[in-house]
Amino acid sequence: MQRLTNKRILLGITGGIAAYKTAELVRALVTNGADVRVVMTDGAKEFITPLTLQALSGNPVHHSLLDPEAEAGMGHIELAKWADFILIAPASANFIARLTSGMGNDLLTTLCLASIAPLAIAPAMNQAMWADASTQHNLQTLQDLKPIQIWGPDQGQQACGDVGPGRMLEPTELARRLSEQFERNILSGKTITITAGPTREAIDPVRYISNHSSGKMGFALAKAAQEAGAKVNLVAGPVHIPTPERVHRTNIESAQDMLDTVLTLLPQTDIFIGAAAVADYRPADVCDQKIKKNQDEMQIRLVKNPDIIATVAAQDNPPFCVGFAAETQDVISYAKGKLEKKKLNMVIANDVSSQHIGFNTDDNAIIIIDHESTTEYGQASKYVLSQKIIEHIAKKLS
Ligand code: PMT
Repeated sequence: MQRLTNKRILLGITGGIAAYKTAELVRALVTNGADVRVVMTDGAKEFITPLTLQALSGNPVHHSLLDPEAEAGMGHIELAKWADFILIAPASANFIARLTSGMGNDLLTTLCLASIAPLAIAPAMNQAMWADASTQHNLQTLQDLKPIQIWGPDQGQQACGDVGPGRMLEPTELARRLSEQFERNILSGKTITITAGPTREAIDPVRYISNHSSGKMGFALAKAAQEAGAKVNLVAGPVHIPTPERVHRTNIESAQDMLDTVLTLLPQTDIFIGAAAVADYRPADVCDQKIKKNQDEMQIRLVKNPDIIATVAAQDNPPFCVGFAAETQDVISYAKGKLEKKKLNMVIANDVSSQHIGFNTDDNAIIIIDHESTTEYGQASKYVLSQKIIEHIAKKLS
């Protein structure tokens, strides 16, 4: 279950006897490297204490929508954006009914409404409640309304003595299914080369021109692509983030270094993504020695850097090329211009005028533009958005 490493799992617990089993579930997820945040309904707290789940998850347990203290720590919208996956286990008949009707009358239903993360529910209830026409109608409606996975229930002896369907799946099975969510091999057999981070253009041995790119977007893409079964080459500018598991990383400094490395990888590359913020210009002359500050003014003559993605797209047999467009205004029209001018297959537009998304942030908000369609995703973690980008690419290639 190593695919759970560093995955942000939001576990929603609702009121039902099976809630006691979530202690084992949280423990299994944490043992397998997941970062788990637990959200409990009032009913859930009657069956297991928040303290138990806090101790096992290592994180504060969330239960109130209107708790100023909790909101000051991690607000509910922040929590909704934080999650890579939401699992509700056990999901009671009451919770399913509220989720189906789009109610946001407690923290858990509000989070489900506010998050674009994939969602699964593990129903658990008395067998007659499960069989009831309203419950079945709600489940059908829910599946018609949104992409949701329904895990279980299991058959067997119930806590109340009845026998039939309604038992929550065992924690080990839920943990296995969660792990499986991160193993979708939609890019199996493909090699993908991704550029990430800034480039540094030397002025002299100690000074350079660069930008605020942290590499987070490109690294999140590398992780999502690897999890989708691709072989991933990551060509990274100077950044300070760890290499995602099983990703081949090459560190570079300048745009020219980045281009040289990308060109060597190109013969094996099926998909190229340019997430790097490549410096458009570099100093025309790089001084061998540190420049002395003995003048009041100085000028640095700049020359244009090679356009890496345009060079890749102009090859005889180019890979599927995905560019980014970092814009501060007229985002869609400028991005479409780049799609055409650089001869790309797809462009990911992001508005970099906000402090909360784009450069050097954990979140982004993107518009995926190709020659047929435009799809917008609101603010979410760079990892969740990377999964969406990878899904779009896989769909285009299939
Ligand atoms: O690294 P983070 O802190 O996570 O921030 C992510 C990001 C904001 C840097 C990223 O999401 C992003 O938008 N990257 C592209 C930034 C950029 O340089 O955009 P651009 O509009 O100037 O360039 C368009 C495309 O051409 C990009 O794919 C870029 O990689 C590519 N390019 C640009 C110039 C150049 N000389 N060579 C290129 O390949």
